[in-house]
Amino acid sequence: MGSLLQILLALFISVIGALYLLGSFRRRRAGEPPLDKGPIPWFGHVLEFRKDTAKFLQRMKEKHGDIFTVQLGGFYFHFITDPLSFGSVVKEARTKLDFTKFAEQLVARVFGYNSMEIEHKVLQASSTKHLMGDGLVVMTQAMMSNLQNLMLHSVGSGDDKQWQETGLFTYSYNIVFRAGYLALFGNESVKSTGTLDKAKEIDRQHSDELFKEFRKYDQLFPNLAYGVLGPSEKMEAERLKRLFWSTLSVQKMRSRDNISGWVSDQQQVRDEQGMQEFMQDRFMFLLLWASQGNTGPAAFWLLLYLMKHPDAMNAVKKEVEEILRETGQEVKRGGPLIDLTRDMLLKTPILDSAVEETLRLTAAPVLTRAVLQDMTINMASGQEYKIRKGDRVAVFPYIAVQVDPEVYPDPYTFKYDRFLTPDGNKKTDFYKGGKKLKYYNMPWGAGTTMCPGRFFATNELKQFLFLMLSYFDFELKNPNEEIPGIDIRRWGFGSMQPTKDIQFRYRLRF
Ligand code: HEM
Repeated sequence: MGSLLQILLALFISVIGALYLLGSFRRRRAGEPPLDKGPIPWFGHVLEFRKDTAKFLQRMKEKHGDIFTVQLGGFYFHFITDPLSFGSVVKEARTKLDFTKFAEQLVARVFGYNSMEIEHKVLQASSTKHLMGDGLVVMTQAMMSNLQNLMLHSVGSGDDKQWQETGLFTYSYNIVFRAGYLALFGNESVKSTGTLDKAKEIDRQHSDELFKEFRKYDQLFPNLAYGVLGPSEKMEAERLKRLFWSTLSVQKMRSRDNISGWVSDQQQVRDEQGMQEFMQDRFMFLLLWASQGNTGPAAFWLLLYLMKHPDAMNAVKKEVEEILRETGQEVKRGGPLIDLTRDMLLKTPILDSAVEETLRLTAAPVLTRAVLQDMTINMASGQEYKIRKGDRVAVFPYIAVQVDPEVYPDPYTFKYDRFLTPDGNKKTDFYKGGKKLKYYNMPWGAGTTMCPGRFFATNELKQFLFLMLSYFDFELKNPNEEIPGIDIRRWGFGSMQPTKDIQFRYRLRF
């Protein structure tokens, strides 16, 4: 009898436990009266959400429609999944929907950096000056010479004629990370090495070591951002953070050549604002993270999609060859290295479309805003939803629009010319419910937080591809190998990464 009671008691406790967990992950329509529970422990719901954010939000979208609320980590997140209604989030005044709070908390936890009052203004000013317009000409040049150093240093030596075999993801991420890092954070000083060749060699070694450490942090990142690292991972994250603070420290930066205006201006402003130097060092790591965590993975997907779609590869190759011909450049043995200016990169509609298509399929950020005062969200359907101060509003464009079959027929297939009009120009008209969409592809986010590095990033991808196509033969080791799946732990963090690497081989053509 006693044991029956014990069994019943155990059953009762487990049912109550299960109900509690389910309840703590309740969904409700936006505008419903507040739930009577206060903030609740976060692990149950975050685990559910984290397991596969895209799958979960897709299911919620199918069940609840254009807007629904999820209780996550003690906050009510109102997810908007109707792309025609994105404007009401993206364009809302900062006095109502604010992005800084959320971002500040994240960077404090993940990078140990305490933001300044004028953080965003400074970032925008320096990005507009150095990553766009005339500034981009300088950055494109810097990127090109660093890519040449990393990819072509052995041209003419006869060393690289043999096929090299490696993982495509590792290779693409490695090269794009290192060249981007050197372009932004500067080169080894020729004064200290004596010769340019020695300085370039040190750049190659140092950036390779840094990449290896960066990847370790990168792999810890999803759990770090969610605050769920195990004890040994925590120690490793701490070690890596300190290593980056020291490697990128303001003091070490002083002795480097060619530091970009983007990095040096931002450091100078912080100095003038009286920020302590150790905090400036932490900011440098934040800049490295924001600038180098996405472009490498995107370069991988771009190359892979092109390799798996020969029609796309041929079309892009033709465009690249045409541009080289027009500018009187030829890749030949013993000849000068090809130069690729920003102007040349403005004349590549086919490659632009292939890049945009790659990002549509593989860039999946969640955009989040904090609600600063009670307000109304106006949906395109005419419905209004009242949301309360303290809640969050979120948009996940990947599910909401980027893989919506109504907007993009056969949405999971790579079609290199999806963003081309029949006469070969950039296509911008995409429709949902018969209405033209303003927000049809959002790999860079939107509104005031839209990625300020997007033009530079696009150029990086194009430069990398140009050099691969012009100087190398390359192929998948197994051309029939399927495109690897997306690592679902990273939904919401920007460029997605594959679940596994895919082997390829490459060799210099000349
Ligand atoms: C394929 C490459 C890249 C992708 C997909 C990407 C995507 C994004 C996204 C989605 C955001 C957040 C937008 C939001 O919250 O609304 C962002 C922010 C940011 N990105 Fe990028 N990015 C890339 C490359 C770069 C590069 C190369 C740089 C710098 C050189 C850069 C610098 C930044 C910075 C500084 C922010 C923070 C902006 C802010 O707080 O206002 N990104 N990026």
